[in-house]
Amino acid sequence: MGFLYSQLFVRPPYPTRSFDGETVLVTGANVGLGLEAARHIVRLGAAKVILGVRNVAAGEAAKEEIEKSTGRPDICEVWEVDLASHSSTLNFGDRISQLPRLDAAILNAALATPTFQLAEGYERTITVNVINTLLLGLLILPRLKATGLEKTPGSSAHSQPRLSFVVSEVHGWVAFPEWEMTATPMRELSDPTRAKMAERYELSKLLEVLLVQELAGHVRGSTDVIVNMLNPGLCHSALARDSGWQLRAMKLVLARSTEVGSRTLVAGITTGLEGHGTYMTDGIVSNNSLSPFVRSGQGQQAREVLWKELSMILEKTRPGIMQSVSNL
Ligand SMILES: NC(=O)c1ccc[n+]([C@@H]2O[C@H](COP(=O)([O-])OP(=O)(O)OC[C@H]3O[C@@H](n4cnc5c(N)ncnc54)[C@H](OP(=O)(O)O)[C@@H]3O)[C@@H](O)[C@H]2O)c1
Repeated sequence: MGFLYSQLFVRPPYPTRSFDGETVLVTGANVGLGLEAARHIVRLGAAKVILGVRNVAAGEAAKEEIEKSTGRPDICEVWEVDLASHSSTLNFGDRISQLPRLDAAILNAALATPTFQLAEGYERTITVNVINTLLLGLLILPRLKATGLEKTPGSSAHSQPRLSFVVSEVHGWVAFPEWEMTATPMRELSDPTRAKMAERYELSKLLEVLLVQELAGHVRGSTDVIVNMLNPGLCHSALARDSGWQLRAMKLVLARSTEVGSRTLVAGITTGLEGHGTYMTDGIVSNNSLSPFVRSGQGQQAREVLWKELSMILEKTRPGIMQSVSNL
C-alpha cells in the first residue's frame, strides 16, 4: 500500500541546494536516473561532475545533453568504468582517489537481466550490483574522508562528504534463505543450476541494502563520511528492458519520470548527519520503509554473513582493503 501511495500521490521536492565548488561522482550517468541526477547537480553549481560510464560514447552524448540543458560547459568529465570487471573497477577507483577533492558520490549503476552469466566468478548481477559497487565504495571512501577534513576554499567550513548507494523498494519483494544455508551465499547464488534469475535483480538489491547497512556501521558518520541508501521509486528507464509484460504494464500505470525519481538521489547527497546509515525514499529518510527482514535480528545475522563473504572476495581483489575500512 505504501508503494502504491508513494507512486501515485507523492513527488519528492525539486532539488534546490547549491553544490557550488563541489566535485561529485555519479555512476551509470549516461542514461536514466544517473543522467537526471547529474543534470541537477551541474545545474546547482557543482565545479566538477564525473560521469562514470561503461560506454564512453554514450557518456559523451550525455555530457553534451547536460551542457545544452544547463548552459554550463566543461563541468562534466566522462570516465570509463565497467563494474563487471574487477580490474576496471580498481582502475576507476584509483583514478577517483587522485582527484584533488571528492565531496559526494552516487553509486547508481546497476543491471537487471533474466540471463545467467558469470563475471569474475560470480553471477553478473551480483558482481555488478553488489560486489563491485561495494568495492568502488570502499576504494573512494578515503578520498571522501580526506575531503571532509579539508577546509572548503573561501570559507572556514569543512565539507560533509556523502557516499550514497541507489537501492530499491524491491529489496523487500524477495526471500534470501541462502544466508542460513552456507557461509558463502553469493557463491551459492552463482551456481547456474540453482540461480532463480526471475528474482535476481530484487535479490541483488536486498544484498546491497544489507551490505551498505553494515558498511555504514563501520564508517560511523560523525565527522566522517555520511553513508546512506536511496530508493528513487519505480521510474520509466531502460532498466529491466528484458522483463515481461507485467512490469511494463505496472510502469505504464505507476512509474515516475526519471527526473522525478532522481530527486531522491540528489536529496541523498545533501542529507545531514542524521542521514548516516539510513534509507531514503520520496526524498526523505524513512527507515520504516525497509523490509521487515532487513529490520529483523535475522537480517542483522544475514548482514554479518554477507560482510564476511564480501571481505574475503575483496581482500583477494585488493589485499588490505578491509583493513583500510577499519582505519576509517
Ligand atoms: N528505474 C526504476 O524503476 C528503479 C527503481 C528503483 C531503483 N532503481 C535503481 O536506480 C539505479 C539506476 O537505474 P535506472 O532505472 O536509471 O536504469 P538504467 O537506465 O538501465 O541505467 C543503469 C545504468 O547502469 C549502467 N550499468 C549497467 N551495467 C554496468 C556495468 N557493468 N558497469 C558500469 N555501468 C553499468 C548502465 O550503463 P549502460 O547504459 O551502458 O547499460 C546505465 O548507465 C539502479 O541502481 C537501479 O537499481 C531503479
